[in-house]
Parts: sequence; C-alpha cells; structure tokens
Amino acid sequence: MKQNQSYSSNPSTPSQQKMDYSKFITHSMSKVPRSGIRKYFDIAEGIEDVISLGVGEPDFVTPWHIREMCIHSIEKGETAYTSNFGLLELREEIAKRYKNDYGLYYDPKSEILVTTGVSEAADLALRCLIDPGDEVLVVQPAYVSYVPLIYLAGGVPVPVNTKLENDFRVTPEDLRPKITQKTKAIVFNYPNNPTGAIMTRKDFEAIADVIIEHDLFVISDEVYECMTYEGTHVPFTALEGMKERTILLNGFSKSYSMTGFRLGYALAPAEIISAMMLIHQYCMLCAPVTAQIGAIEALKNGREEMLSMIREFDRRRVLIVDGFNKLGLDCFEPKGAFYSFPSIRSTGLTSEEFADQFFAEKHVITIPGNIFGDTGTGHMRCAYAASRDDIKDALGRLEDFLNKKK
Ligand SMILES: Cc1ncc(COP(=O)(O)O)c(C=O)c1O
Repeated sequence: MKQNQSYSSNPSTPSQQKMDYSKFITHSMSKVPRSGIRKYFDIAEGIEDVISLGVGEPDFVTPWHIREMCIHSIEKGETAYTSNFGLLELREEIAKRYKNDYGLYYDPKSEILVTTGVSEAADLALRCLIDPGDEVLVVQPAYVSYVPLIYLAGGVPVPVNTKLENDFRVTPEDLRPKITQKTKAIVFNYPNNPTGAIMTRKDFEAIADVIIEHDLFVISDEVYECMTYEGTHVPFTALEGMKERTILLNGFSKSYSMTGFRLGYALAPAEIISAMMLIHQYCMLCAPVTAQIGAIEALKNGREEMLSMIREFDRRRVLIVDGFNKLGLDCFEPKGAFYSFPSIRSTGLTSEEFADQFFAEKHVITIPGNIFGDTGTGHMRCAYAASRDDIKDALGRLEDFLNKKK
C-alpha cells in the first residue's frame, strides 16, 4: 500500500510537535492550577533520607482482615459491576452506622450513593448543584480540590476566610459579607484539612441560621469525622433543618487507611442522590467492587483497628504540636484530622520559602499554608501521618534549620 505522504511513521517528528493543543483544551482548564502539593513529592523523588510531613494519607497498611476479604472475593470471582448506587449491603451498613452512632436515618435505597472516593462524591455534588455563574462559598483554609472542581462545574468559588483567633471555625460574621443573589451553596470540611480545626454543635447552629436565611445548599465533607480528638464529631446533618439541604460526604480512605481502594459515599435527600447518580452512572458506572467488599468488612469488623490507629494519631499530635511550640513556631492546637498548622511568621520567611529551604537543607517535606487559601499564609501544613520516630527526627532537623537562620 502506498504510504500517505502527509503522515510520518515516526511519532516524534517535528510536524507532530507543532500541534497547538491549547485550542482543543477547554477555557475552564486554564483556571485549574497544578496541585501545589504534588510539586514537593516530585522534587523529593530519588532523594534518600527524606521525611514527609506532606502527605495526607495514613502511614498504616489497611487492616489485614479487610484485605483478606477483598482477596477472597476475587478468588470467588466477585469481579462484576455493582448497582450504580453501590452494593446494597454496603449502603445498609453505612445507614446502620449513621443510625447507631448519630441517630440519623438515611434510606439505603434512595439516600446513599457509593462513589470512587470522596473526591468523586465532591465532584458529583458540585456538578449537580452548580449552574454556570452560580457562586459557591468555600470556607478556607480548604482542601485543594474544591476550588478547581467549582471552576470545572462552571461555578464561581468565593473564599470565606476563617481566622486563627476563632480557631479556624467559620462564623456567621465570616459568611454574611460574602453572600450575594448568586450564592447557591457552601462547601466546608470539619475536622479540617489543613488546620485540624473542628466545629462544635453550637458553632454549626450559628451558621445554620445564616444558611436557612439565605436558602443555601451545603456540601459538608466529613472524611476526617472519625479523627476527632476532643469531644465528639457532630455531623452537620444532625442539626435541625440541615439534613434536607446538605450533601454529607464521607469515605474509607482516612478512617480505615484505605486511600488506594478509592471508596467514598454521599448522603443526601433522595432527589439530590438521584441527580448525582445520573452523573456517576455515565462517568463512573459504579465504584470498584473489590473496594466495596472491603468497605463492608471495615464497617462490620474494623472499628477496633480504626480506634487504635486514631489513638496513635493522637499521640503523634501531642508530640508534633509540643515540638513546634518548643521551637518557637506557634502552633494552633488541632482537634481533628491528622494535620498541624504551625505559624512560621517568626522565621521571617514566606510559607513557600520555608517549604523550599527546609526541604533543600534538611530533606523534610512540608506544605506551604497559602495553597489552602489566603488565611493559610504564614503557616505550614505538617501532617502527622508519619511515625513518631520520623516526627522526632523531623523536629530535630527543624531545630538545626531554625538555628542556622538565627
Ligand atoms: C478534606 C478531604 N476531602 C477529600 C479527600 C479525598 O478523599 P478520597 O481519598 O476519599 O477521595 C481528602 C484527601 O486528602 C481530603 O483531605
């Protein structure tokens, strides 16, 4: 066959490199930054003796009985698609948990959607709520995904900055000035990534009044719900009048150390779950079956191991927060999740300078606070999802680093 002269068999010819891909990629992509967190993992690649306080995932392996159940299910040939909503048995276990722990009733048949991580659930929630131009309040400092996902859904993210002096809790005074005719929804996450802040029932009640007054919808990301070290977690939907206007997100990544399984879920009124399910059905079809089987086992028999992991996080929390304070870096006391958020203002460095220099000189990865929103400026996010030995080593390196800056 005669070769077509306009094509080359060599994939790296200059003619192919001249493609202008920017005209094919959507405009909204230009608003989506590369994750500020990834950068620090990329530069650490190949360097030995690195200690990472950067990563937002537990350092424990998923408990064996969960892994074993997954292995058995594969051996038995349980490899097919599940219902779009997720296995009914899993939804029933989730419903049982919320009823037993919080007295909240969610119908497993219509008010629960199993997703590929909380990440997918957040995307579905935003895509089903946002029309082009709708404003969505994002309580900051915030997990890095919300703002890009709002842009991708055609919405306008509106930052609501919390304050250190309020323990990074969101107040009606923070919210009110940001609400306009176009505000449709609000996203928040307590226990919080990156600050470790939590909200009490009273704190939530105060903002619930504003939410009702302005008829807003809520996305409450409670993926760190189990990691509450002081008091007990209050699901936002436990507040009067909030269950009917809230999409509650939760999952298995953090509580059962199952990040790679990719499993989360959304709890919401049936009509909202139906809308989210339509998107999920076409873009994902269903969450991975093996992970769903692991999640059933986690809910049925995983509580003891979960609690023991949380007790270990609590010990590390005390260690790291004390360590920062002793070294002169004022550290807000985190009450949940597994992040500390010390201020590095006393060093005279910006958050990015601190992260870059601390890594270059001492090979410790920390994440600049400003990538979680303006209120994070002057702070670092340091996860304590590293062993106590690594945390002690990192604090020793920090002491050397700070001494050299004096
Ligand atoms: C607040 C928050 N939400 C969601 C996620 C993602 O969770 P998943 O692994 O279930 O997608 C993370 C991960 O760090 C997170 O910190």
